[in-house]
Amino acid sequence: MQTRILPLEPDPSTAIALAAELLRAGEVAAFPTETVYGLGANGLNAQAVVKIFAAKGRPSDNPLILHISETKEILPLVSAFPEKAQKLAEAFWPGPLTLVLPKSGIVPDIVTAGLDTVAVRCPGSETARALIEASGFPIAAPSANASGRPSPTRAEHVLADLSGKIPLILDGGACEVGLESTVLALTPSPTLLRPGLVTREMLEGVLNEPVAVHAAVLTASNGEAPSPGMKHTHYAPSCEVYVVSGETLEAMAKKILRHSGEFEQGGRKCAIFATEQTQAFYFSKNYVIMGDRNNPESICARLFALLRGAEGAGFDVIFIEAVKAEGAGLAFMNRALRSAGFKFI
Ligand code: TXA
Ligand code: MG
Repeated sequence: MQTRILPLEPDPSTAIALAAELLRAGEVAAFPTETVYGLGANGLNAQAVVKIFAAKGRPSDNPLILHISETKEILPLVSAFPEKAQKLAEAFWPGPLTLVLPKSGIVPDIVTAGLDTVAVRCPGSETARALIEASGFPIAAPSANASGRPSPTRAEHVLADLSGKIPLILDGGACEVGLESTVLALTPSPTLLRPGLVTREMLEGVLNEPVAVHAAVLTASNGEAPSPGMKHTHYAPSCEVYVVSGETLEAMAKKILRHSGEFEQGGRKCAIFATEQTQAFYFSKNYVIMGDRNNPESICARLFALLRGAEGAGFDVIFIEAVKAEGAGLAFMNRALRSAGFKFI
């Protein structure tokens, strides 16, 4: 199969209509959202959804998110839409928040991997919402990477992983957020299953109650993952990755320099993922600046693209600086640790 890249510009409505036509014919298509690129199919058609799992090589026990273009479209998909969920939808939709709720009978089992809950989100991206609207059904869409790889934040990343396996990629340029949506379960009590840019603090502000963080967010969970799919390896580039912390920024940088020096003596090429605040420590080393550690959103936006970049440039080892695991920093640490297979020094 030839994979076509179709730029949204200069005629977004024609490009979106073409993608919608493919989806209505039961095919898959990749499209941009504000978080990462998604690989979409008709979420109410099991035969179409099966093609998502096949193209990604995704284990069938990892459930998908259904994307809707307006809040009211959630009603047929869930058996209950509790007041807490309504409040959150009002506050954060359209946007990077996914709600896990009890599913209705029209959601195929393949979408939820047999669970009795379904994950739903109304994306902030206008392109994504226009595509859902033009298709006329909720779009099931995981991130459009090959299973286990960093999520794609540009059309070229999708092509690198799925070329020849999908018919179309709608190219809308770089995704603004760069990390996947926040996933929140509401029953029995609000629990963050995957942190994102709708932060724990923001959720607590709207719900007026504490939001728990699932243990699997910052530690390697042994079979205790919130959904069966979350136990699978994620975001892993082909190089060895370490997340490095320190009492002070200087102590952290020294640790990175010591470890990278040891690897380099062994002939291995090391990359350092630094921040604006620490770049000066790495003079004459191979480092990139992820962003400003006082503005963790900026670091989140570039992490996946930088992982793919370092891998493409032939680095063997990547050292990622840790940041404070609060606000958007929690989402960053979750993805960084997962890409490192939880190797934390
Ligand atoms: O930002 C995003 O959410 C992107 C874009 C494309 O919308 N999508 C995305 O999908 O990241 P995916 O499949 O890569 O991640 C969905 C996550 C998985 O970790 C899955 O285990 C979890 O949501 N999930 C889905 N349904 C669930 C359920 N019923 N219960 C618990 N977790 C669920
Ligand atoms: Mg994914």
